[in-house]
Amino acid sequence: MPELSSGAIVPVSRSARAVLDHIDLADPQFFADPGHHRVFRYLRDHDPVHWNPDGVEPGFWSVTRYEDCLAVQKDGVTFSSAGTNTLGQQRWTGDEGSGRMLTHTDGPRHTELRQLVNRAFTPRAIAKLEPYLRSIIRQSLDEALEQGECDFVDTVALLPVASIAALLGVPREDWTLLLRLTTAAFGSADQDVQTSPSARASAAQAHAQLLLYCQELMNQRRRNPCDDIVTRLVEAQDTGLLDEEDAMLFFDLLLLGGNETTRHGAVGALLALMEDPEQWQRLREDRTLLTTAVGEVLRYVSPSKHVLRRAERDVELHGRQIKAGQDVAIWHFSANRDARVFSDADTFDIAREHNPHLALGSGPHYCLGASLAGMELRLFLDELSERVGSATLVEPPARLASTVISGFKTLRVRLLPS
Ligand code: HEM
Repeated sequence: MPELSSGAIVPVSRSARAVLDHIDLADPQFFADPGHHRVFRYLRDHDPVHWNPDGVEPGFWSVTRYEDCLAVQKDGVTFSSAGTNTLGQQRWTGDEGSGRMLTHTDGPRHTELRQLVNRAFTPRAIAKLEPYLRSIIRQSLDEALEQGECDFVDTVALLPVASIAALLGVPREDWTLLLRLTTAAFGSADQDVQTSPSARASAAQAHAQLLLYCQELMNQRRRNPCDDIVTRLVEAQDTGLLDEEDAMLFFDLLLLGGNETTRHGAVGALLALMEDPEQWQRLREDRTLLTTAVGEVLRYVSPSKHVLRRAERDVELHGRQIKAGQDVAIWHFSANRDARVFSDADTFDIAREHNPHLALGSGPHYCLGASLAGMELRLFLDELSERVGSATLVEPPARLASTVISGFKTLRVRLLPS
């Protein structure tokens, strides 16, 4: 295979090599420090196909330039999703979704699974949710304004769960329960939270309750089919496309896929606007900027940091030999700051016109919830600009220690009405 992207590579200096040798990109703590952006800039320029040796996880390659991230993600034949699709503990323990879950399949099986739920995610289908979602955002922002001070990570928590709950077919009276269980089961991509034994135990308990809830809802839909995703999952069991466990994994995936990503997209958007009040004012005065603003939030915040693929055959990339069976991390948040594609890549610019960001992936696994995520963020920015005049930090924000999600453990802010 020819090299995937042009652009000179400046050799790594000896002193930089010494620093790089001490950085483990699989270590979630590395991402708790904003300095990780500098390291990725260095990798893009000097070591764009970087080997991360065995550390907290088995060794893997990292691609960090835009063109390479795009090419690897588009080539689902050479770079398979069927093992696991992110860095994390499951690389040691095995991933229960491998070869079964939408995100963890390739080729015809992946197409079949995607077709099963595609219809629920078309722009037309999700447009029906707009009034609901707008009212949820209004209510959450009004409550936060009334309190004066809030943790914005909590303020925006209901929006993504309610969106997907509505598509799944979860009755409205159960949304709060679903939010509680989802937060307890997968509540945080943060390593510190995940590794405490008590957090793990209550997460497992909440997850078991979620699966029981899903089972019960599937039983109800078997008796009374509706126009919702859970009914599709039941029908797929009747045709043999899924077994019951596959259906529950699907339910899990949909709840998870759009949850923390959208939530931290909204949190990151607020922080970016707080850091640049002139742009916030511009958005208030000109809502035609909402479309480019959503694209820019996705690029600049890049809520999903990376996805993982496994090489199916030996491949040469920028002179580096990737062997069949080795894992390759595609760091889209780094691609989204690549100066070869984006002008002033580290600047947040709500009017950015050329913005082919990779925040939602690309290729066969391109985000299924892309239109939904776009609508949620648009409504959020619209209502935020309408209702909130300014926001100030109550304490310095603490970043998530996570290789997967770009976000914050907490964002304590004081909001003032517009
Ligand atoms: C800002 C919000 C979001 C971001 C940044 C995001 C990001 C991504 C990315 C990068 C992928 C590619 C995964 C891969 O290549 O392995 C993906 C796939 C996916 N996303 Fe999203 N997503 C967001 C919102 C949503 C929402 C709201 C849903 C709704 C359920 C959703 C559901 C999915 C699903 C099911 C897939 C797998 C598609 C497949 O494997 O074919 N996402 N997303």
